[in-house]
Amino acid sequence: MRTKVALGAWSIVLFVSACAAPTAPTARDAPPAPGWGVAGSPGPAVAGTGALDLTRRSTTDPGSTWVVVNKSHPLPAGFRPELGLVRGYQVALPAVGPLTRLLDDGDARGLGFKIASAFRSFGYQEQLYAGIVSRSGRAAADRVSARPGHSEHQTGLAVDLVTPADPSCDLDPCFAGTPGGRWLARAAWRHGFVVRYQPGTEAITGYRAEPWHLRYVGRPVAAELHRTGVATLEELFGVPGGGYR
Ligand code: DAL
Ligand code: ZN
Repeated sequence: MRTKVALGAWSIVLFVSACAAPTAPTARDAPPAPGWGVAGSPGPAVAGTGALDLTRRSTTDPGSTWVVVNKSHPLPAGFRPELGLVRGYQVALPAVGPLTRLLDDGDARGLGFKIASAFRSFGYQEQLYAGIVSRSGRAAADRVSARPGHSEHQTGLAVDLVTPADPSCDLDPCFAGTPGGRWLARAAWRHGFVVRYQPGTEAITGYRAEPWHLRYVGRPVAAELHRTGVATLEELFGVPGGGYR
C-alpha cells in the first residue's frame, strides 16, 4: 500500500506494507549478538582497531555530530539546534558546508539532487507521524517514521534527498537502485554523511531501509563506517537500538 504524506511542497510516497516484497531474513535481521549494544562501549566490529577514538565526542549530547538518536534514545524536550540554510532548507550548522559540497558534487555528476526534508521541529514531526498513523496504523508507521522526539531530523543533521530524474523512486526503497541512490551509498561518506537506515538493519535502527535518508556524522566517523563495513551508528558506538522502551 502506498501512503502519500503532505510535506510542505513535497508529497512523500511511503510504501508501508506491500511495496517491498518480504525479503529473506539476513544476519542483520537477527537479534543483536550477546555483548552488542553495551552503552558506552564501542561495538565489536571496531573494538581494538585503534583507528578512531570513538569516545572523542558525545553520542548523547544532541548538539554533537556523533549523537545517536533512535527509538530508545530520544532527544531532550525542547532541543533545537543552531541552524543554517542549504538551498532554502534548514540544517544544523556543522552540516551546512558538507551538505552544500555533497549537493555540488552531485550536480557536477549530473545527479541533480533536491532536498525533500531536512530539519524538522518537534511539532512538525508530530504532525508527520500522526498523519502516517492515521493512514496506515501505528505498527506500520513505526517502521517508517519516528515518533516526535525520536527523529534524527530534529537534530538538523539528517536530510532526505530525491532525484528529479527518477521521481517514481523518490522516498521509496527503489531509490537505492537509481544512479543517485547508488552514488550516495558509495560516496556520501566522503562528505561526512552516512546512509543511516540500510537494508537488514531494522532490528538495530528500528526502521526499514531508507536509502534517501542521510545523516551527517563528519568525515572521521563516516570513513570509519566505510572502512570497517559497519552499517549502523548503534553498532559502531555500542549504543542500544531496537524498539521503543
Ligand atoms: N523516517 C525517519 C525514521 C524519521 O522519521 O526520522
Ligand atoms: Zn529522513
